[in-house]
Amino acid sequence: MTRHFLRDDALSPAEQAQVLDLADAYKADRYGFTPLARRAVAVIFEKPSLRTRNSFEVGIAQLGGQPLIIDARSTHFGRGETVADAARVLSRYVDAIVIRTFGDDRLAELAAASSVPVVNALTDGFHPCQLLADLQTIRERRGVLAGTTVTYLGDGANNMAHSFLLAGATAGMHVRIAGPDGYQPDPQVLAEATRIAGGTGGSTAVLTDPKQAVDGADVLVTDTWTSMGQEDDGKDRTTPFLPYQVNTDLLAAAADGAFALHCLPAHRGEEITDEVLDDPAGAIFDEAENRLHAQKALLGWLLDDARQTGAGRPG
Ligand code: CP
Ligand code: NVA
Repeated sequence: MTRHFLRDDALSPAEQAQVLDLADAYKADRYGFTPLARRAVAVIFEKPSLRTRNSFEVGIAQLGGQPLIIDARSTHFGRGETVADAARVLSRYVDAIVIRTFGDDRLAELAAASSVPVVNALTDGFHPCQLLADLQTIRERRGVLAGTTVTYLGDGANNMAHSFLLAGATAGMHVRIAGPDGYQPDPQVLAEATRIAGGTGGSTAVLTDPKQAVDGADVLVTDTWTSMGQEDDGKDRTTPFLPYQVNTDLLAAAADGAFALHCLPAHRGEEITDEVLDDPAGAIFDEAENRLHAQKALLGWLLDDARQTGAGRPG
């Protein structure tokens, strides 16, 4: 079986810890590991990106591999070629396929047709590469993940909220999601996260009161109120979300030493204030840097796995 990384729960707790340990090792020695020597990785974008695109391109090169960065507009997708056919072809050229796309069904279709590992670089449903970087950042600051209380504020129905639920539960964290009515997590994702948390000592909670949600929290997380693809849906995404803005007042209501995370890009003055973003002691730009290290670790780990099982060689 080819090993893919389509959602955060693709990694067991032990595997997640292995990848995070590898991420720390790669961060400590940025150029010292070349598990992708003579290998190539296709990285396909059907949505915009700054961090994901550039951290994968640089990271694959640092691992000794060749990145193929593909803007979907330059492919035949717009002319009817299916992602399944593209995956079958690319599997014969490259050793892994990374893709940022819309529906998780599209990602699943691509993965089903790929004989090499497929990595989710953000879908409408999940952003698991971001979560590896976020967990690495939290662990750097707190030393441990298990037992940490994380409150995600804002659009509780988006990819970041879902990934925090699954990855946080896997890490044994207490994950609280706080957002306005109508923006709660997918019940199936919440149920799966709650099931995982039952085995790791973590927990999940969905709340609407922001002050209650941050009480005792070690980390506050937010994200844009308007995800890619939602720009023209006609919804007022300011009024209902403003009480969930991550600002110094909300941080002061959290646990002592609490810090904020944001996957970026930020909409300054909306989901997060300048003061929080620009705090010189803040974690958000460390978090952005850790995309590089965490994704290198994921690719190194996945391709090592592929090598051991013989996956990735077209039959
Ligand atoms: N956080 C994140 O995924 O950023 P990009 O959209 O710039 O890749
Ligand atoms: N929820 C955001 C994350 C951006 C990195 C989006 O999907 O646009």
